[in-house]
Amino acid sequence: MIAQPSAEPALRFTFEQSQHAEAIEALLDHAFGPGRFTKVSERVREIAEFRPDLSVCAWDGERLVGSVRMWKVHVGAATVLFLGPLAVEADARKHGTGGLLVQRAVQAAEAAGFPVVLLVGDEPYFGRFGFTAAPARQVRMPGPVDQRRVLARGAELLAGPVTA
Ligand SMILES: CC(C)(COP(=O)(O)OP(=O)(O)OC[C@H]1O[C@@H](n2cnc3c(N)ncnc32)[C@H](O)[C@@H]1OP(=O)(O)O)[C@@H](O)C(=O)NCCC(=O)NCCS
Repeated sequence: MIAQPSAEPALRFTFEQSQHAEAIEALLDHAFGPGRFTKVSERVREIAEFRPDLSVCAWDGERLVGSVRMWKVHVGAATVLFLGPLAVEADARKHGTGGLLVQRAVQAAEAAGFPVVLLVGDEPYFGRFGFTAAPARQVRMPGPVDQRRVLARGAELLAGPVTA
């Protein structure tokens, strides 16, 4: 069977590089607005080790349309990667790009020896990628959070405070 050409150009995925930072900041401002620095996830990112080599960008030609970032932290004695923020430009949503970003970041983390990934987000969205609240119920975030939104995959139970 001959594959039909897609009406939409294929996106290109790359790991993050320093020259992408400005475009990513603009994307995150569009997606989250000015309140984005008040989230408890930002408190985690302040203490975490940023891993651009596991963070993924989605490109439509030269335009950045999506980004997900990954950060190394500890929960109790366990080393985990903290995922986020995840954002896709509004006019590029609902084509699976967010899902591909999550899957690629998780695969890159696994390949680098980090099978456990933690995030704060909606289980109805992230559940499809294997993230659930149960293994993260004893994670202590560095600030107020709805514990039902603390999700993990790759671990039976994480317990303790999130630390550098
Ligand atoms: C969340 C986000 C990254 C999804 O990007 P995307 O490229 O549209 O993702 P996908 O195409 O893989 O999935 C889209 C589906 O997820 C659903 N979805 C999006 N956000 C959701 C949420 N918070 N809860 C449940 N479902 C959600 C969409 O309705 C859509 O459903 P459909 O497939 O039935 O139409 C994008 O909506 C976004 O940037 N939102 C603003 C920032 C944000 O909330 N980020 C996540 C928190 S870290």
